[in-house]
Amino acid sequence: MKNLCIISVFLACVMPQLLMAQGDLAAGQAKAALCAACHGVDGNSQLSENPKLAGQNASYIVKQLNDYKSGARVNVIMAGMVAALSDQDMQDIAAWYASQQVTLQGADPETLEMGETLYRAGIKELSVAACSACHSPTGNGNAPAGFPSLSGQHPEYTLLQLKAFRSGERQNDQSSMMRTVVERLTDQELEALASYVSGLN
Ligand code: HEC
Ligand code: HEC
Repeated sequence: MKNLCIISVFLACVMPQLLMAQGDLAAGQAKAALCAACHGVDGNSQLSENPKLAGQNASYIVKQLNDYKSGARVNVIMAGMVAALSDQDMQDIAAWYASQQVTLQGADPETLEMGETLYRAGIKELSVAACSACHSPTGNGNAPAGFPSLSGQHPEYTLLQLKAFRSGERQNDQSSMMRTVVERLTDQELEALASYVSGLN
């Protein structure tokens, strides 16, 4: 009986809070109106310097918003945008973008083979891990692990991020996961990868 009481107290008090931790799609859509000018109404941005958020994993989006807020990821525009967002706002907005469909771009045929080989196999001799191990064979990442989707992203944005990890300018990747991978890759290889994932699905 005592155990039953404890269980019902748990269900009554803790469960609603667990549910609250999930984002609310409709609320997220309304809150994302602020972001639409740059990221597009459905998360498919027009300008390549603004990343697409459509189809991005919610846990990754929430982490980035917190990182901009704490300064772990440095960007003047985004720091201003997240300053007033609460944890619940971040959850709601992330759930909304995650529910949208990303538009794919076409990979450059000239660098397709290089991009595909690097993405799927890495470079064994240089201990460069295959991107697909974490970002998945379809480029959708791994939502529970917080690995971002790369599929359909503007190649210009992806290339900027890869170079920022390589130079150490972006260092919010846990355990240096990305910095270790791109450290030994050339500009040409990073360009091929950025182009390849823009059409990957
Ligand atoms: C004035 C344009 C602008 C507005 C408005 C804006 N953003 Fe951004 N956002 C950017 C730019 C530029 C970047 C890339 C910054 C960088 O290099 O770190 C970015 C990056 C992001 C990222 C990281 C994406 C990734 O793939 O890592 C997220 C998440 C994000 N924005 C969410 C939002 C949300 C949510 C809002 C609204 C509350 C918003 N942004 C409003 C321009 C904008
Ligand atoms: C060991 C796992 C792992 C491997 C292997 C890996 N990544 Fe990542 N990648 C991550 C994680 C984790 C993040 C998110 C870091 C953060 O929290 O900001 C990330 C972020 C990224 C981003 C930034 C996405 C954005 O929207 O800003 C790009 C681009 C990227 N990875 C491309 C690649 C490419 C290309 C390769 C192969 C050369 C690769 N990754 C290999 C784990 C990995």
